Amino acid sequence: MERASASPREGRVRWPGLLLAAALVTCWSSPASAQITAEAVPPLVAEGESVLLVAHKLPETLQVIYWYRDRVTPEKEIGHLILSSNQTVDGAASTGRETLLTNGSLLLRNASQGDAGPYLINVILADFSTKQASVSFQVLPPLPTPTVTSNNSSPTEGEGPVVLTCEPETPNTTYLWRRNGEILSDGDRLQLSDNGTLTLLTVLRADMGSYECETRNPVSTRRSHPLFLNITYGPDAPLISPSDTHFPPGANLSLSCHAASNPPAQYSWLVNGTLQAHSQELLLPNITTEASGTYACLAHNAVTGLNRTAVRNVTVLEPVTWPSVEVANTTVKEMDSVLLTCLFSGSEVSIRWLFNGQSLRLTDRTTLSGNNSTLAIEPVWREDAGDYQCEASNPVSTRRSNPVRLAVIIDPTRGSSGLSGGAIAGIVVGAAAGVALVGALAYFLYFRKTGGGSDQRDPTEHKPSASRHNLGPSDSSPKKADDVTYSALDFSAQRLKEPTSASPSPSATEIIYSEVKKK
Ligand SMILES: *[C@@H]1O[C@H](CO)[C@@H](O)[C@H](O)[C@H]1NC(C)=O
Ligand SMILES: *[C@@H]1O[C@H](CO)[C@@H](O)[C@H](O)[C@H]1NC(C)=O
Ligand SMILES: *[C@@H]1O[C@H](CO)[C@@H](O)[C@H](O)[C@H]1NC(C)=O
Ligand SMILES: *[C@@H]1O[C@H](CO)[C@@H](O)[C@H](O)[C@H]1NC(C)=O
Ligand SMILES: *[C@@H]1O[C@H](CO)[C@@H](O)[C@H](O)[C@H]1NC(C)=O
Ligand SMILES: *[C@@H]1O[C@H](CO)[C@@H](O)[C@H](O)[C@H]1NC(C)=O
Ligand SMILES: *[C@@H]1O[C@H](CO)[C@@H](O)[C@H](O)[C@H]1NC(C)=O
Repeated sequence: MERASASPREGRVRWPGLLLAAALVTCWSSPASAQITAEAVPPLVAEGESVLLVAHKLPETLQVIYWYRDRVTPEKEIGHLILSSNQTVDGAASTGRETLLTNGSLLLRNASQGDAGPYLINVILADFSTKQASVSFQVLPPLPTPTVTSNNSSPTEGEGPVVLTCEPETPNTTYLWRRNGEILSDGDRLQLSDNGTLTLLTVLRADMGSYECETRNPVSTRRSHPLFLNITYGPDAPLISPSDTHFPPGANLSLSCHAASNPPAQYSWLVNGTLQAHSQELLLPNITTEASGTYACLAHNAVTGLNRTAVRNVTVLEPVTWPSVEVANTTVKEMDSVLLTCLFSGSEVSIRWLFNGQSLRLTDRTTLSGNNSTLAIEPVWREDAGDYQCEASNPVSTRRSNPVRLAVIIDPTRGSSGLSGGAIAGIVVGAAAGVALVGALAYFLYFRKTGGGSDQRDPTEHKPSASRHNLGPSDSSPKKADDVTYSALDFSAQRLKEPTSASPSPSATEIIYSEVKKK
């Protein structure tokens, strides 16, 4: 109020005269002339902020602009502007926070709730007529920074309701809730109320996270600090990894246990009922068959007090021995029968038969018995001639026998049943190496003899490839000798055929054998 009392005495002295003049002229002012208007910018003002009361459509013949608070009386004058001198004079109602701008607008700073209005603008024109307009605004308190509280800061999953409150409660406020930054809306398990509460009817672990509330009124927006809602849960049923149940002797048995839990579960391992470790991982190096048994992982949540267990039955198993195919006679007459037996030792073994490197297709003439270890063919047809292998697998190993070649002596009384005219199946060759090896060696020999073709690869390159195709258990010397014999045969056959491609494909090799026999 200092500025109000310090306002020029002169201004006040002039008051009654001007007022009288204004009052007189008002009666005669023409209603046809344009009305002036006033506008508050902004219409809703935050407490402590400024508001500008803007006068619009001011006539050109303007002489004096008065601003009043509530009523047009001298004691309610905030101030006036004399346009001829551009002089502003404070009125009796000036608080020192108002400024009359030279364009006739009134600026009010540091608005408080009591400043809301109305404000009146009164202008005096050259002809002493007056025009008047009024304007009001609302002052809203700026919102305080809200705080989120929970009536249960660490609920357990399944509990409820849990109530989060955004405080303090303020009028003209809307509330917005966020969880981990995402805006929440009303839902099955979640209720939002107009007064700033969020109710979680039943808490789930998915409700865990940082909760924030945002308050808004027309003049301000405030966001709370996040409240972390910790939800204890679990342990869930543990999972043991890896999923293997069988291990070979000498392996390092490493099992890991995991159970979803908050706080994290404490783990222990029991082997055959005896406590083995207080850890999430169990490591037993270089195991023997004695390590077979029941492995139980126990997960414990110290807060919920709950325990969950998972059990794994572990078997330590010797790998199966290399199998071999036994047959009484590798040469059979067509329409006779043949019995192939797979010899091996081991447990939990399953047997699979291969014919010419492919899984054997069963027909109504083939019978498997003894858990597939015996293969009977009756009657034998010429198309049964070829390489037989058995493959023995148990959960820790898979091993394939050397091929045994079965030859069929053709019975002329039986038709050729769709075989190509020139082909004569069934070549007596006894136990032989894999066709791929034969092909690879032939390829090698062919190039050595011709002094190398366009393909200049180092012949030694083929050795690893050949041994990879060798499905037998060991490079026993008799078999090696066989390989060489057949390679030579195969090579001469290729020479006769004048091959364009030396690709050692198994089908090409089969045909080559037929040609040799024909000669
Ligand atoms: C008067 O001046 C103020 C500040 O310069 C401005 O914001 C306002 O719009 C002006 N009023 C008119 C009617 O031009
Ligand atoms: C604004 O007004 C309030 C009282 O309404 C006063 O306490 C405060 O000091 C003022 N602020 C300024 C910057 O003048
Ligand atoms: C939290 O408030 C809800 C609703 O009022 C009530 O049902 C619940 O028991 C309260 N929880 C605690 C831990 O006080
Ligand atoms: C604020 O709330 C009051 C009643 O609580 C109401 O009269 C007023 O109009 C509201 N203001 C706004 C801007 O909504
Ligand atoms: C807020 O609203 C909810 C429901 O709308 C009501 O249950 C609760 O009592 C209210 N809290 C306060 C503090 O008014
Ligand atoms: C078992 O672990 C030891 C030491 O870490 C290691 O030397 C050995 O090769 C592992 N054995 C197997 C079968 O992985
Ligand atoms: C694993 O155990 C066997 C006997 O059980 C032993 O002969 C071998 O040396 C052990 N290997 C290692 C790497 O400790």
